[in-house]
Amino acid sequence: MKRLVLALDVYERERALEIARETSDYLWAIKVNWPLILGAGLDVIKELKETANVPLIADLKLADIPNTNRLIAGKVFEAGADYVIVHGFTGRDSVNAVKELGEVIIVVEMSHPGAEEFIQPVADGLIKLANDVRPFGVIAPATRPERISYIRSKLRDGIKILTPGVGAQGGSAKKALEAGADYVIVGRSIYESKNPREKARKFHEELMGAI
Ligand code: C5P
Repeated sequence: MKRLVLALDVYERERALEIARETSDYLWAIKVNWPLILGAGLDVIKELKETANVPLIADLKLADIPNTNRLIAGKVFEAGADYVIVHGFTGRDSVNAVKELGEVIIVVEMSHPGAEEFIQPVADGLIKLANDVRPFGVIAPATRPERISYIRSKLRDGIKILTPGVGAQGGSAKKALEAGADYVIVGRSIYESKNPREKARKFHEELMGAI
């Protein structure tokens, strides 16, 4: 089973497709975020799927009223995304507006230092929301494996934990998995390396050995 998600945060279409082609053997999924969507256009989603033949996660961190979330997510699912990442703090109506259109992943806690200011203190409420809404998964920080364990202990069985923050932000893939994550998201450590395929292979092997 593959557990690695590539966060493909580059601007250029050609570069994105090349990295996807090189690394796809080791990936469960590819995650695109605003940098690539703004740089290469929404059609890059379909091209990546054709190139890499893996699920596509659109990390838009939607945080708007239900109608606007629905309008945005509709376009993104239509473009070929399999999962859309949404913020939970806007409330369950905003999240459900996206879930009616396709699979969602809810941000429960972020991986950067500033996450401690506002989002970590409300994590319990966001976990409860996830347990009620039953998304495909939630996002939890690899930079704080103890938070992954905590979130896992509160989360309804079957909801996946996807965790960014490995490598460039200092988190460890192995520790994240041991703490209870299902999938590990890695960006810069792979796409900025001289040999993205080799880096992806190493992460994949680390993840395979971790359990
Ligand atoms: O380059 P790096 O491995 O740090 O990339 C992490 C990816 O995960 C980025 O696309 C970032 O936007 C995303 N992300 C994150 N922390 C979250 C949610 C998403 O780092 N809580």
